[in-house]
Amino acid sequence: MRLIFSSPDLSKPGALAVFATENSTLLPSAEKLDRQIGGAIKRAISASKFKGEKGQTLKLLAPQGVEASQILVVGLGKIAAIDDLAAQNAGGTVVRELSRSVESTGLVVVDAIKGAEISSAAFAANVAYGALLGSYRFDKYRTKQKPEDKSALSTINIMTSDAAKARKAFGPMSKVAEGVFFTRDLVSEPANILYPISFAARTRALTKLGVKVQILDEKQMAKLGMGALLGVAQGSAQAPRMVAMRWDGAPRAKDKAPIAFVGKGVTFDTGGISIKSAGGMEDMKWDMAGAGVVTGLMHALAARKAKVNAVGVIGLVENMPSSNAQRPGDVVTTMSGQTIEVINTDAEGRLVLADALWWCQKIHKPHTMIDLATLTGAIIISLGHHHAGVFANNDKLAEQLSAVGKATGEAVWRLPLGDAYDKQVRSNIADMKNVGGRDAGSITAAQILQRFVKDEVAWAHIDIAGVAWSNTDAPTVPKGGTAFGVRLLDRLVADYYEQK
Ligand code: BES
Ligand code: MN
Ligand code: ZN
Repeated sequence: MRLIFSSPDLSKPGALAVFATENSTLLPSAEKLDRQIGGAIKRAISASKFKGEKGQTLKLLAPQGVEASQILVVGLGKIAAIDDLAAQNAGGTVVRELSRSVESTGLVVVDAIKGAEISSAAFAANVAYGALLGSYRFDKYRTKQKPEDKSALSTINIMTSDAAKARKAFGPMSKVAEGVFFTRDLVSEPANILYPISFAARTRALTKLGVKVQILDEKQMAKLGMGALLGVAQGSAQAPRMVAMRWDGAPRAKDKAPIAFVGKGVTFDTGGISIKSAGGMEDMKWDMAGAGVVTGLMHALAARKAKVNAVGVIGLVENMPSSNAQRPGDVVTTMSGQTIEVINTDAEGRLVLADALWWCQKIHKPHTMIDLATLTGAIIISLGHHHAGVFANNDKLAEQLSAVGKATGEAVWRLPLGDAYDKQVRSNIADMKNVGGRDAGSITAAQILQRFVKDEVAWAHIDIAGVAWSNTDAPTVPKGGTAFGVRLLDRLVADYYEQK
C-alpha cells in the first residue's frame, strides 16, 4: 500500500473517507462536503443506525455533486478519547471498508479535531500508520485468486492542511510497519519453507540497513557447549542455527552496552518424543514467533536509525521425533555449565532459550535483556489472547513494558516469580528439570529462564503464546501472524533507551 499526504482537494477521483465523532458530528471538512452534495451525508445518517461511535461505518454510493465514487463515514466516538491508537484503528477501518470497492485510490480527509488532545498532524500520521498496518496480506501461496477477490486499493491519499508535518511524523512509523510486515511474513510461512537455515538466510537482508549479522552453525554451537539447544535440534533433519543481529545506532559511545532482545525460534514444534496430539498441530509453525518479532524489531530499529545500541539473538531449531531425537530423562549440559534433566521433550523452548540467553550475555554484555517466546499453553489459560505475560527481575523494566503496552495497544500483564516456584523445577539427578508440573506452568517456565540470566542484567521474559497469532480480524491486525512485540519494543526503545 502506498501512503501519500497532500492538501485537501475534494475534486480528486477515488473512494473518499471522512470522519464523524459521537452524536454523528461531522468533522469540518465532512460538514463542508455534506453541504456541497446537498445534505446527502446527513440524510444517510438519519436513515441508518450510525451514531459516530468508535468503529462504526456508513457508506454512500455514487453520490451526486462530487468526483468521488463513494463516501465512507467512519466513527471516532468521544472526542476526549481520540488518541494515537484510536486514529490508527480508524485508519485500519478505512482500509478494510475501502478494500471492498473497485477503487484503487482511497482519499481520506483529515481535520484538526476541536477539543481533542491529538494534533491534526499526529492524527493524520496515525491514520496513515493504521491504514498501512491494516493493509497487510499474506497471499503468496494463492495462485487462483480472481481479480474480484483481491483488493484493488493500492494508494491511500491522506488529505490534510498539515501535510508536511504529517509526512514527517509518518516517516519512522512506516519503518516500524516494515518491521511488522517482515515479522508477519516470517510467522505466516509454513515450516517446509521456513526452517532454521532458511530463516537465518532471511536475516541477512538486515545487513542492507547497517545491521551486522552473525550466524552460528551446529559445529560452532557444539564448540560453545550449547547442549540444551542442540539436544532439541538433534531429532530433526533440519540443522539448527543461532543468529545475532547487532545495530549500533547510539551516536555517542558507539561501544556502549546494548539492550538485547532474544527470541525463541522453533520453526516447527511437534513436541518431539513427548509428541503433541494431532488437533491443531499446524499452529506450531508459528512457534518461531519470538524470533520473528526480534528480527522485525531489529529491522524497525535500524530502518528508522534508532539512536540506540541493540542486539537481537534468535535460537533456531526444529523439534521433531526420530530415532535420533532426545528422550525424556536425558540430561543435557547448557553453555552456562548448568545441567537440565529433560522430563518432557515438548518443553523445548526453555532449552533453546537457556543457551541463547547465555550466549547473548557472554558476547554482548547487555545492560537489559528481553526475551520473547511462544513458551507455554498455560499463559493462554491465564490471560487468553488479550495480554502477553511478562515476568521480570526488575520492577522498573516491568513498569516500562506496561506503559508502552498501553501506548501501543500491545498489552502485557505481569506475573510473579519467586523461590517457591523455582523449587518446582528441582531435579533428582541434575541442576534442574525442564518442567515443574501442571501448577503455574508459565511461571515455572520463566523460573528456568531466570536461572540463565545474570543478576546484574535487567531482564524481562514475554510469553507471547496467546497473542502471536490471531483468528479474528482487527483494524490494524488482520488475522494470522500479529507481530505482537514489534511495536511494543520499538516504543520501549524510543521512550526509554534512545539517546536524545
Ligand atoms: N510451543 C509450545 C507452547 C504453545 C502452546 C505455544 C500453544 C502456542 C500455542 C511449547 O513448546 C510447549 O509445548 N509447551 C508445553 C510445556 C509443557 C510440556 C510443560 C505446554 O505448554 O503444554
Ligand atoms: Mn513444545
Ligand atoms: Zn514450543
